[in-house]
Amino acid sequence: MSNLLDEVFTPLNIVLSAIIAALTWTLFGPRKGSASQDDQPAVKILPKMKRRDMTVVELREFDGTPEKNDGRILVAVNGTVFDVTRASHYYGPGGPYAAFAGRDASRMLATFCLKAVEGPPVYDDLSDLKSSEMDQVKEWFLQFKEKYDVVGKLLKPGDEPTDYSDNEEATDGGQNTSTEAP
Ligand code: HEM
Repeated sequence: MSNLLDEVFTPLNIVLSAIIAALTWTLFGPRKGSASQDDQPAVKILPKMKRRDMTVVELREFDGTPEKNDGRILVAVNGTVFDVTRASHYYGPGGPYAAFAGRDASRMLATFCLKAVEGPPVYDDLSDLKSSEMDQVKEWFLQFKEKYDVVGKLLKPGDEPTDYSDNEEATDGGQNTSTEAP
């Protein structure tokens, strides 16, 4: 028994556990200046958005800043735009995944990187990603599809937006029921 304990509580294991705990706390612990546990704001609920396709430039306007679009937060993954406003604790300003807000998060998710490319929005065709990285993107796409409302397609340069006027009640990804980008 004491041998087992000696093996579990090695200095290396203790240091690694401390690092993991510190990272989790940094990402998910209470933020400086945020409300206390008791008066946490409720999950943000906005009326469901009408279906619409958008360019990366239009997407950037939905980064969760309160003065833009009521603080609505959209994130694109694998060519589909999702409304993640109800998870503003993750994606809102100061949240651990705020870098994804108003952006195509595919590359960041594929490469496990939380730093957004700076500068004006540019469409990313992801063509240089390895197939294992594209598999990650598709996995994340399925998770987002499971959890969040689809708003529409992320438009490539030159793409025309779909006219959804006859189809506003559609509730799922429509054009993107597979894991392929639409
Ligand atoms: C030490 C590093 C990290 C830790 C400890 C961590 C931990 C977590 C935890 C605990 C959750 C919440 C699961 C839940 O309650 O549903 C989560 C969600 C998530 N993480 Fe991380 N994470 C880390 C790094 C990253 C990185 C590098 C990325 C991507 C670049 C990432 C992307 C996500 C996403 C997209 C979600 C889902 C949020 C949602 O449900 O909308 N994480 N992570």
